[in-house]
Amino acid sequence: MIYFVAAVAAIAGMLFGFDEGIIAGALHMLRSQFDITAWDEGLMTAAVPLGALLGALIAGYAADRYGRRKTLIAASVLFIVGALAASAITAIWMLSAARLMLGLAIGIAALVAPLYISENAPASRRGMLISVYQLAVTLGILGAYIVNFALGEAWRTMFLLGALPALALLVGMWALDETPRWLIANGQNQQALTALARIRAEPPESVSVKKELADIESAYAAQRSHAARWSDLLSPVAKPALIVGIGLFLLQQLSGINAVIYFAPTVFQEAGFDTHNTQILATIGIGVVNVAMTVVGMLLIDRIGRRRLLALGFIGATLSLGMIAVGALTEAQWLDIVATIGLALYIASFAVSIGPLPWVMMAEIFPLQVRGLGMSAATLANWGFNFLVVFSFPAMVSGLGLGGVFTIYALACLIGVVFTFRCVPETSGVTLEQIEAHLKSGRPFNQLRPAIAPERPDPAAVQDSLALPREDADAMLAAALAFSPYRQSLTPLLERIAQIAYDNHQVRVALHAVWLRADFANTGVLRRAHLGPQARTLNLFLEHIHYSSPTFLSSVGEGRPDGDPEHA
Ligand code: BGC
Repeated sequence: MIYFVAAVAAIAGMLFGFDEGIIAGALHMLRSQFDITAWDEGLMTAAVPLGALLGALIAGYAADRYGRRKTLIAASVLFIVGALAASAITAIWMLSAARLMLGLAIGIAALVAPLYISENAPASRRGMLISVYQLAVTLGILGAYIVNFALGEAWRTMFLLGALPALALLVGMWALDETPRWLIANGQNQQALTALARIRAEPPESVSVKKELADIESAYAAQRSHAARWSDLLSPVAKPALIVGIGLFLLQQLSGINAVIYFAPTVFQEAGFDTHNTQILATIGIGVVNVAMTVVGMLLIDRIGRRRLLALGFIGATLSLGMIAVGALTEAQWLDIVATIGLALYIASFAVSIGPLPWVMMAEIFPLQVRGLGMSAATLANWGFNFLVVFSFPAMVSGLGLGGVFTIYALACLIGVVFTFRCVPETSGVTLEQIEAHLKSGRPFNQLRPAIAPERPDPAAVQDSLALPREDADAMLAAALAFSPYRQSLTPLLERIAQIAYDNHQVRVALHAVWLRADFANTGVLRRAHLGPQARTLNLFLEHIHYSSPTFLSSVGEGRPDGDPEHA
């Protein structure tokens, strides 16, 4: 059921990408039918991010007041009306208005759809689902390019086609329930139970459903007791997260991605692709690279860490944007080839890193108390800077030339490298509670590191570890704890630790390796020798919980034991 929920949300991402990308192919036909100035063109293209900015502003309020589900239904109606209007225009200002409406829908959906998923998803799969959203965006862009190519001159049909996925979003949301969390917040506890049971595909009487509901109830009670304000984002605890959230989206947009996405055929024309068809084909190539490299990014993100991946992306983007700039600044024919290769490398660097990472990190870094507001601020930055870059692109090209503009984008990516090292924390393999504890400790945010040194797990074990059932993981951890010097203080907290251990990919891989080695499922016996090389990972994990997270111990109602003879 949760996959159905994710699929519906992915439609919202797809619509975002589709409406972003469709203008690229329609522009040259619009130019021949309407009298369009550079400013008209900028406004018409930038209407989507501008509308999204407004959408993001009202989305949080609407979602709280009317519910996530109703707000998403309203967004899908806006999507449908916007698509119909764009296909029926008789003057260019009408297209700007229709695209403003589409942007409004996108801005609402881009905030509420992830919120809807996160309030429905089990914690352990939340991060993965955020990346699926970015993948859907890139699929939508690719879909738009293909539609552009397949439909040729029929620009009205192109715009109209956007109504189809919007209809699917409408039907899907109609079939789904409101989130259990919103229902509880609005005193509808019985409906919340029904909704949660349906998502988990279990009967409402099930113990685990009842327990999860109780957890949501108490989390909500804790939140309501101190409602967050915008000014809380500037508190010493939240500010470093705000800087990273907004900074990453600022740099993502200043890297010039949407100038390339919106104006790709124009860029290719400058680079020497003569016919319109070759320009569109080259543009489709860009869309394919964007999708494929996003998938690669999803596979890498938890393995090599956020900071390394981000720095690699910014370095790659700086170099490739430099190649494009050189190609555009000089006349030599062979340099056009350099520019084209540069464009492909740039998209690859973006898609693998600069594209998904800001979305993933904005959902990780904010303390629980201000998470919603922090995400609003970050998405607002995304749309605001998106609008500025797209709106200024045609005018900047006529002033500075393509080479000058891409040089500016390259410099922004160079700043991105510095920003990554100076400000961005490493959040892979770190629980949300540990991130929050680090922020509260007042230490520099960029010094946050996973408790366990990332090691390359054996790919077969990674696959298998996903199949390690929770009960087996719990039993294994209990057995492994018996060999730990921290067993006395940690054993009473076993249930909580087991949850964290199960959510931590590396620990799960380690447990699974031991599980196989000890034939634990059949024998139920574990000796010290069975722990093998995994002893280190498990020990580091337990040590981390014991020493560096006093907040963890106190949060579960236990102080650090004073008289523990094991480490007195
Ligand atoms: C960005 C969009 C961009 C898209 C391209 C997203 O992460 O926020 O502005 O158009 O990636 O794939």
